[in-house]
Amino acid sequence: MDLAKKFRNIEKSAQEEVKKARDFESLEKVWLKYLSRKGELARAMKQIKKVSPKERPRVGQVANRVKNNLTVFFEKAKLSIKKQMLTRSLRQEKVDITAPGERPKKGRLHPITQVQNEVIDIFRSMGFSVQEGPEVETDYYNFTALNIPTTHPAREMMDTFWIKGKKKRPEGRGILLRTHTSPVQIRTMKKFKWPLRVIAPGRCFRHEATDASHEATFYQIEGLMVGEDVTLAHLKGTFDYLVKRLFGPKTRIRLRPGYFPFVEPGFEMDITCQVCGGRGCSVCSQTGWVEIIPCGMVHPNVLRNAGYDPKKVTGFAFGMGLDRITMMKYGINDIRLFYKGDLRFLRQF
Ligand code: FA5
Repeated sequence: MDLAKKFRNIEKSAQEEVKKARDFESLEKVWLKYLSRKGELARAMKQIKKVSPKERPRVGQVANRVKNNLTVFFEKAKLSIKKQMLTRSLRQEKVDITAPGERPKKGRLHPITQVQNEVIDIFRSMGFSVQEGPEVETDYYNFTALNIPTTHPAREMMDTFWIKGKKKRPEGRGILLRTHTSPVQIRTMKKFKWPLRVIAPGRCFRHEATDASHEATFYQIEGLMVGEDVTLAHLKGTFDYLVKRLFGPKTRIRLRPGYFPFVEPGFEMDITCQVCGGRGCSVCSQTGWVEIIPCGMVHPNVLRNAGYDPKKVTGFAFGMGLDRITMMKYGINDIRLFYKGDLRFLRQF
């Protein structure tokens, strides 16, 4: 067959096959068949040298034209397939902006964190600043410096998680999970000079059986005010302001004697029962009062241990149980609900 005619046939059939290609994959196949190094066009090109010298320029011209035409044809086909695919995907993936949306799930703060933030705000408004201390403490800060030496029976009041080491530590030198936030009192007084007004929120640990009002992990907020002539009146005034903001203006407080080795005198502060408003109910054992904050005037030994002179300064301190305050604020009857991670419970706050 005339070679020039062969080139024209290749051109024709390649164009027909390109027209049928609907995607890049099938287009690629056609390209391999006709235009690749081992494709039909290349094979035909090799035969040009067999053509008589007279005919060769004409056939060569035809061959070049076919090659250029087909290259352009392929490029156009590629663009057209790209366009078609885009149109197809736009049609398939179109977004119906009138369809009702899905409400995004919002996170929220744990109820204890919410109340903690509220208490911090109230104390900040009275000029208190926030301090922190470690959860893993030494015996010294948790007990001894707080006027609870190793021989003191008050150590039994707080069942302690001790950290075991390879060597047995001598008595009074142990490491533990803090049983209360009171060690932060000592750390703060050692760090700053008086006058002081601080609160220290944090997690505490006690090795005790859990029930509706006890957990092995719970939260406290410690408070400490030290200066010249700080009296019990300051403590009462501070609490009165706190509970009125936290529980409402009708809430009243009262102080009863209480014992803690690190305060003298020590008190338990009660507030009017939030459930019955002070009339008496099962929650407050018909007394109209519930106990919420242990407190007192800082013991001179504690001031001395922290490097302060008890002849020059006095102070008050308290350690409120944040879990119990949150329970009272929201009428929750079981502390264990806070730590179960049950979203049905947590989403109510
Ligand atoms: C103390 O921990 C003292 N450090 C408080 C204190 C500080 C007194 C400064 C005087 C001056 P107590 O052991 O009573 O005291 O605990 C204080 C509060 O922590 C309790 O009133 C209670 O609300 C909370 N609490 C104690 N143990 C648990 C527990 N196992 N689960 C939940 N809350 C607890």
